Amino acid sequence: MVDLKGRDFLKLLDFTPEEITYLVDLAAELKDKKKKGIPVDTLRGKNVALIFEKTSTRTRCAFEVAAHDLGMGCTYLDPTVSQIGKKESIADTARVLAGMYEGIEYRGYGQEIVEELAKYSKVPVWNGLTNEFHPTQMIADLLTIKEHFGHVDGIRLTYMGDARYNMANSLMVTCAKMGMHFTACTTPKYFPNPELVEQCKAIAATTGGSITLTDDVEAGTKNVDVVYTDVWVSMGEPDEIWEERIHDLSPYQVNKKVMENAGEKAVFLHCLPAFHDLKTKIGAQMAERFGITEMEVTDEVFESAQSLVFEEAENRMHSIKAVMAATL
Ligand code: CP
Ligand code: NVA
Repeated sequence: MVDLKGRDFLKLLDFTPEEITYLVDLAAELKDKKKKGIPVDTLRGKNVALIFEKTSTRTRCAFEVAAHDLGMGCTYLDPTVSQIGKKESIADTARVLAGMYEGIEYRGYGQEIVEELAKYSKVPVWNGLTNEFHPTQMIADLLTIKEHFGHVDGIRLTYMGDARYNMANSLMVTCAKMGMHFTACTTPKYFPNPELVEQCKAIAATTGGSITLTDDVEAGTKNVDVVYTDVWVSMGEPDEIWEERIHDLSPYQVNKKVMENAGEKAVFLHCLPAFHDLKTKIGAQMAERFGITEMEVTDEVFESAQSLVFEEAENRMHSIKAVMAATL
């Protein structure tokens, strides 16, 4: 029997495959109820605090809607309106908020910050993205994969782009835990942290999963089930780095050739936001500076029938609801 009451949700390394499966299945159940108009407001009277030190569309909205659906109140705190870090330490903030709220979400920089918050908070803390991990995104991605393929075990997932950051780290851990086959397909400079790779290989050895690192696009994407990418420059990284990233990662763009090599049954996932056209400020700037119209994914792939990115984005809400419902 899985019981996650009172648990923090900081990274999937802290959870067993059974616990992760429980969260994915709970998300599916809550999604089904929402679609049928069956209310699940079992957490009436509780309140949650949402701390965002970086910007967000999906994660913030998912937490707010999920909290409301569950009957809870919520307070959104951004760095410009709170004392966090400037006038008040994380440890003190944790103890103050835990006295008023039943749960705390944190999005920000180092993983050690959310771990510290959890250490000092007597109520559950949920990681809404750090530089190292994005665990709520993983439950949504597993739900999306399960809805499409009917299962997650044995699925071959290839990540292209900067594999040293939150998304690739989290996907590698998730695949290892769930018996999936993870490939980081990028130039070796962007391969994930060797220690985390070793840790994931050891986990994968117990679940039937595998971890592969390659710089060969054709081999790395041949007949895979899921092609995944993320922005080439993440939140908090300096603007000066764009030129280098565009140079280094352009060969690892997800385009029609990649999807054809993966095969027609393959799907495309992206945590979003994505640079697939010129309809964003940064996209337009990059077009002006480097003459490119698309970055990590072409508009053709993004808009294709193989792309499940908007189903994936919706699943953020159902899965975040599951994480809160399970831990509160
Ligand atoms: N995927 C994701 O976390 O999106 P936001 O940055 O909009 O929350
Ligand atoms: N790697 C991206 C993920 C956004 C959801 C970032 O950290 O900005």
